[in-house]
Amino acid sequence: MVEHRLATKLDRILQGQVPLLRFFSESPWSTRDPADPDNADFVAGNPQEMVMPEFVEILQKWAVPKDKDWYAYKFNEPYAQAAAAAALRDRRGVPFEDDDIFLTDGAFAGLNITIGTVTDPGDEVVLTSPPWFFYEALIIGHGATPVRVKLKQPSWDLDIDAIAGAITEQTRPSSSTRRTTRPGGSTRPSSSRNWLEC
Ligand SMILES: Cc1ncc(COP(=O)(O)O)c(C=O)c1O
Repeated sequence: MVEHRLATKLDRILQGQVPLLRFFSESPWSTRDPADPDNADFVAGNPQEMVMPEFVEILQKWAVPKDKDWYAYKFNEPYAQAAAAAALRDRRGVPFEDDDIFLTDGAFAGLNITIGTVTDPGDEVVLTSPPWFFYEALIIGHGATPVRVKLKQPSWDLDIDAIAGAITEQTRPSSSTRRTTRPGGSTRPSSSRNWLEC
């Protein structure tokens, strides 16, 4: 049998994912009855209700091509930047401009690009713990080293002193913006948000 050579960093990524994979395959959660209506399963953030018909309708509507370039390579399409900026201004009350918006196919891709943009191999990236389950894999994938800082208990607030203590010469000037809810709603107390913005 041919032995495949895999990148060393893949081993590092997989080692870091062992507890997660074990949880998904061996924990009591993994043997739950997914059909049990008494289960409110918040583990991976998957939808627990049927998707809204309006969402499905809009996907179906715009999946139909209106020109030959509909499925061609896309960049930061200005109409999409304008729509996202307007929605963010409306919902958040923050004066986003169209050029502030960079389009990717999901937060995962956006985070990956961001980490790749600001880190070099050997850099350290401070992230708050518990993190979303693929942050460390993303960081290691770029040859950087994740440095976990635990959130305070029971408030889930940032531990500013611990974050400051984790910053070294190797730390890249990036900070975790992980939320204690799914993307879309920050529950971070404003005191810690202000600190991060400094
Ligand atoms: C905190 C957090 N970061 C990143 C992601 C990845 O986002 P996406 O599914 O848009 O790639 C998720 C998805 O649920 C998330 O909850």
